[in-house]
Formats: sequence, structure tokens, C-alpha cells
Amino acid sequence: MLKLIAGFVLVMIPPVGWGNDIIDHGRRLYTQENSASATAVSLAGGITAPIRTFPCSGCHGLDGQGGKEGGVVVPPISREALKRSHGETEAEQFEKRVKLAVRDGTTPDGRALHPMMPRYPLTDSEIESLVAYLGELDHPAVPGVNELEIRIGLNFPESGELIPLAEAIRQALQEYIGEVNRRGGIWGRKLILQSVASAPEPFCYLLPMLPGGRATEESVPLLFPLGQTNRAEKRVLPLLADLQQQATLLVRWWLANDRREYEHALLVADDRQGALANRVSDLFRAAKVPLEVIEEKSVAEWPGFLLNDGDSVAVFWFAHISALTPFLSELDGRHPVAFYSGVDLVGQQLPALQQAALTNLTLSNPRGLPDRSAPEYHRYLQFRERLSSRLEHNDEAVRVAFAAAALLEEGLRRSGRRLNRAELTEQMETLHDFRTGALPPLGLARESGKYAQLIRYSSENGTFSVLLDWGNGEKLRSAEQPGSDRSSHTTGQ
Ligand code: HEC
Repeated sequence: MLKLIAGFVLVMIPPVGWGNDIIDHGRRLYTQENSASATAVSLAGGITAPIRTFPCSGCHGLDGQGGKEGGVVVPPISREALKRSHGETEAEQFEKRVKLAVRDGTTPDGRALHPMMPRYPLTDSEIESLVAYLGELDHPAVPGVNELEIRIGLNFPESGELIPLAEAIRQALQEYIGEVNRRGGIWGRKLILQSVASAPEPFCYLLPMLPGGRATEESVPLLFPLGQTNRAEKRVLPLLADLQQQATLLVRWWLANDRREYEHALLVADDRQGALANRVSDLFRAAKVPLEVIEEKSVAEWPGFLLNDGDSVAVFWFAHISALTPFLSELDGRHPVAFYSGVDLVGQQLPALQQAALTNLTLSNPRGLPDRSAPEYHRYLQFRERLSSRLEHNDEAVRVAFAAAALLEEGLRRSGRRLNRAELTEQMETLHDFRTGALPPLGLARESGKYAQLIRYSSENGTFSVLLDWGNGEKLRSAEQPGSDRSSHTTGQ
């Protein structure tokens, strides 16, 4: 019956997860981490001692590569090392060697091992776990990861006006991660947050580089649950619509719904966003609608006076907010203006925008409102409750931190015990509709328009309402004429 059940479990649990449990058990035996076991080991001269005081790692090393202990050479015992020392290639030979050494202090050819090697009365299944774990020790070292820890980097500024925000996010992340660690960490490893200034390279970065953060190693993956990226860097795992995708969604909406109301369309983008400007220009060209493109640095010289008095203008703003005031003053209140932008780009400038002769303000929002229908929403509320005394006025920071940490946890759990960066990236890329409760469902945002929301400001009551909700960007795209857009060929990849 037991066998039957075990067989059933094997079918239900993916092999990776199953293997990970054994390996995790093996690791705990090897390191005796948190061990309260009453098992006694026998030492030379018939002495016994509690097993936790003689972990294998104490002599053979956390990496299994051996060394010297009190003048005695301690051999390496990882799978590959034993294969090399004894020329034994079969799994059974390896298992037999470990079993004999551990239980009897002998080798397969009958030699007694040095008396320093203790005897351990371990069961067959414990030996099996140890053997599985010794096989794991041969995998190449991954930066930021060792047997006991995974180091996660935060790239936040060290001074400036964003410090309070960065600090609030860090505190909330610390709270979440502390909870994960109290439950035993991930595959037995504790998560450690470190700032970008600390020396060892982290396994990955979490959250974007806030302005003022430092440039980081290109090889380190970046989990990114905000929406201000402007380049499709390979190592960046966006999970929310980046600026180009947000612009695409806004332009599609405008072309399908609003364009008849405006005489001119303008795109203001900073010069690092060539890809964004090209993409937007393509969409306009395909729809045979003229578009004027202005580089952010030329905003002040832009001859706004060339517009006829009273002409209405739709502005697609993907430039820095500091250029907004000079730009608006060019327009001089003589033209009805509609403003289309990312919520993060103009959020602070709402009052300035309201003073322009604004006909409408439509923003793409890569974060949106919490997904109240998700069962995880409740978990998020509890989390917020725990933090409320400390971070009362930082709802957004708490929300972003919670989603980021949940995402990190999920990615690391899915990656399994044998963690590496390629595996994490792969796991993230297959993540779809992942529900954190704090944000709408997340997934790798390489498909444009799927993971942003369009919201429109109502000047009457001073609030935003949802114009186009999550996922509906797909509908907007399929409603377009087939072939009217080059990117439609890539749909369904
Ligand atoms: C107090 C130090 C110490 C501890 C603790 C210890 N070992 Fe050893 N172990 C040794 C020494 C020394 C040798 C070499 C003996 C020899 O070559 O005669 C050895 C040999 C071995 C060998 C044989 C290697 C070979 O090439 O045949 C294996 C396998 C081994 N140990 C596994 C373990 C495991 C598994 C544990 C934990 C359950 C463990 N050891 C704990 C010191 C230790």
C-alpha cells in the first residue's frame, strides 16, 4: 500500500520537486543544520557524541571538497571526486562506498578508514538522501548562492529625495523575506537582502534601479515588477508592460477611438528611446495618420507657434517630467490638448497638466489596482496590516514590495534546489497570470498591451477611471485590420 501511495505521489509531483525533497533531506543530514536529533555517532576509542556536533560538512567542507583537519587529510567526497579517486563510475559503487564509510568506517575493498572518520548509525533512506546530496555538490558555483543562502541585491539610491520610498520598500521586502526564512527559507536556503554597494555579487536583483542607483553587472538577472524600463534588455525580466508597450497600447487606443477629435499628433520621447519612437511612428504610418516626433532635448526650441490658433493636439509624452513645463508653455494655453502618457512619467505633474487647456488625460498604468478577486488578495491585506503601523503612508511601496517578493519566492521555488540564473530566467519566462493579490495578474510582459491598464482622468470629480482593463489590450489589437501592423505577425509566439 505504501508503495502504491508513493507511486501516486510521484505522478502528482513533478520530478524536480520530488528530487528536491530528497536532496534537501540529504543537505540537512550533511550539515546537521537545526538538528535536534538524538542520534549518537561513535568516535575513536568507543566514545559517542550527539550527531549534531559532528556534521559531515565540519570535516569534508560545505562543498564536499575535503581539506585538512588536525593534520589529517580529509578526502573530498562529492560524487565526481569519489569517481576520480577510485575510478568507480557506477551509481551502486558510489552508494556502497558512502554507506560503508558512514556506517562501518571501511572501504569496499575492506580497508578500515582513519579513526577520525566517525561511525553514523543512519538508515538506508538517510544514506540514500546523503548520496543524492553528494551528487549535487558537483554543480558549478553560482554567484550569490551557497548551501545556506541566496543573496538578493537591491539597487536603491544612497541619497536624495527617493530615500524614504526606497526605505519603505526595503522594510516591506525585509518583512516578507523574514517570514519566508522563518518558515525554513527556499529549498533550505535563507534569503538575504543586500544593497548594491555590498561587495559580493548577488544572485539576482529585485526591483528596478531607482534613479540614483548604480549600474550593475549585465550578467545578473533583474526581476522587475515596476513599469519604467525603456529597453528590452535580455537580463531584465519585466513582468509589467515597459514604456514601449505602454506607448503602443495608448497609440492603438487613440487610433481606434479618439483620433477624429484632434488635428495634430505629437510624440515627445527622450533620445534613448529610439525603439519606442520607431514603434510609435510605425503604428501611425500604418494607419496613414501624420505624426510629429520631438526629441526631449529639443522641446524648448519646438516651434509650437506653427500650429494654427485653436488647433487641437494629442500629445504622446514619453519624456522626462522636467521637460513638461517648458513644453506646456510653448503651447501657451492656445490649443486644446489631450495628453497620453505613462502614469509614472507624469504622476507628480497632475496640477501642472490641469492648468493646460486639457481636453483629456489618458495614462497607461502598468501596476493598476490590486486584484481583489484573487484569493491571494487576503494574504496581501494581512501583510499590509502587519506593516501598517510602520508604513502607514506608503501603500504603493508596500504593494510593489509584496508583489516583488511574492514573485521572487515563486521564481526561486520553481527553480528548485539546483539553482542557477538560466533556470530562474526560464521559470520566469513561463510564468503566466501569476496572482500576488497586490497587483493584477503578472506574466512576462513581452506581449504588448496585455499587462497594462488605460485610465482616464475626469476633471469634474478629480478621479481616474479605467478605460481599458488588463488583458483587453489583446482585444484592441485583434480588432485592428489584419496586416495593418507589422507586429501582428509576431502574435502567438
Ligand atoms: C571528524 C571528521 C569527519 C567527519 C565529521 C566525517 N568524516 Fe568522513 N572522513 C574523515 C576522514 C579523516 C576520512 C579519511 C579516512 C581515510 O582515508 O582513512 C573520511 C573518509 C570518508 C569517506 C571515504 C572516502 C573515500 O575516498 O573512500 C566517506 C565516503 C566519508 N568520509 C563520508 C562522510 C560522511 C557522509 C560524513 C557525515 C555523515 C562524514 N564523512 C563525516 C573525516 C570525517
